[in-house]
Amino acid sequence: MRLRSLFLDIASSRERLRDAVIAEQSVSCDAIGASLGYQSEATREMADSIARWFNVDHVSLTSMGSTANIYVIMTYICREYPGSPVLCAANCHMSWINAAANLGIPLRFVPAGMAREFEAVIPPGPDEFSKALKKESDAAAVVITTPTYEGLHVDVASIVKKVRDVRSDVLIVVDNAWGWKRGNPVNEGADIAIRSTHKMEGALMGASVLLANTRRIDKDLLVECGNACYSTSQSCIVLMSIGETYWLWARHEAALERAFIEYSQALKNSLRELGFQIFEGVHEHHISHIDPRKVTIKLPKGVIGYKLSEILQQRYRLIPEKAGIATITLIVTARTLNSPPEKIADAIARGVEDVERMSVPEIEIPLSLNKWETLKAMEAHQAVRCASRVVDFDHSAGLISASVVVPYPPGIPSIIPGQRITQDIIRYLHVLHGIGGHVVAADPSLSKIRVVEEHNSD
Ligand SMILES: Cc1ncc(COP(=O)(O)O)c(C=O)c1O
Repeated sequence: MRLRSLFLDIASSRERLRDAVIAEQSVSCDAIGASLGYQSEATREMADSIARWFNVDHVSLTSMGSTANIYVIMTYICREYPGSPVLCAANCHMSWINAAANLGIPLRFVPAGMAREFEAVIPPGPDEFSKALKKESDAAAVVITTPTYEGLHVDVASIVKKVRDVRSDVLIVVDNAWGWKRGNPVNEGADIAIRSTHKMEGALMGASVLLANTRRIDKDLLVECGNACYSTSQSCIVLMSIGETYWLWARHEAALERAFIEYSQALKNSLRELGFQIFEGVHEHHISHIDPRKVTIKLPKGVIGYKLSEILQQRYRLIPEKAGIATITLIVTARTLNSPPEKIADAIARGVEDVERMSVPEIEIPLSLNKWETLKAMEAHQAVRCASRVVDFDHSAGLISASVVVPYPPGIPSIIPGQRITQDIIRYLHVLHGIGGHVVAADPSLSKIRVVEEHNSD
């Protein structure tokens, strides 16, 4: 690996970023700023060169995260196919639900599985998507989420084939927020994909790209939808960091890939030598591989992932990407490469020694979206438009939620608007909260929840 040339490139890239920081000011006519409307030349050039690298025919950039790009896509769907439902893999991020609820799009879910030992969701494959599309034959789009938080990659090409056999015109969208490297879902036949460049690829927080092959897409409308969703004052530093990140990847993909993979293997070996069990993926033919940079560890009995994560952050300055009830997931990032893998493994082993052991009631992670057909009292977009009231969360079983409640990470909702709340879900969320799990909700302490006002007809 030509380390010297990699470091020289990183240094010159840093210099360009520094120039962007100096230029960052609220001046609409600035060369890099004001990427909307007339789109600055600098941003357009960046998008074009990223499109060439990814081998796609349209790219747009945002400093507002993949959440904004998901809004762009859902805005496009609601304008192009008004009233039509969208089929979403049940492992979707909450932003798909929020966008659908806000934009009036009915949602149907394609069931996902679960590798319980590792608290890792298994995304649905071609058979599940084709069955769902046959049932929901007027769907405007199908949304695949791959890779997952724990790094499972679904074989997009096989889903595309099966889905197109059912309906050749249906839009195929991929939430590739956790993707990295040049290969991307659009090259596998999807129409649109979004990627959070800040997650695996090293750009600044908020960086995201939308990649598209516009054969089935009205490109002008897509650009209009971008203009409708992006801020007119996007961060030029973040936009520049997207350009710089892909500029580096384009030059050093092989070297970077090798460095990350070798490091991950060494880390996993050290962890195994210390007796830890590591998630290796699942043997299902629609799962093509597991991302080598994701390291999900099953913890010894009584060690709570959330508690261990706190200790690792406070005592060892090690930040797991995700904690669960009995697992943690680490990502090998450029920053991780600065510490020897044995040191990280050792910190985890010491953290496990330090953490107070607790017994947790046996609890199944509910994949509520798998049960949407039975839990649905009304469409999510209807529920957010109804009169609502705030009630005690503990007394909400049987009521219809008007809001989203999501354990985060990974951000797969437990409760969505329109869903009848069940005692099992209340219990699960309390257990999670009680052992240090984070929940994204209007009231993250889980004492209150907004529900639909139901009028008794008698
Ligand atoms: C699968 C998935 N999609 C979308 C998002 C939203 O990405 P961003 O934080 O870039 O808005 C996330 C965030 O965790 C995610 O995990």
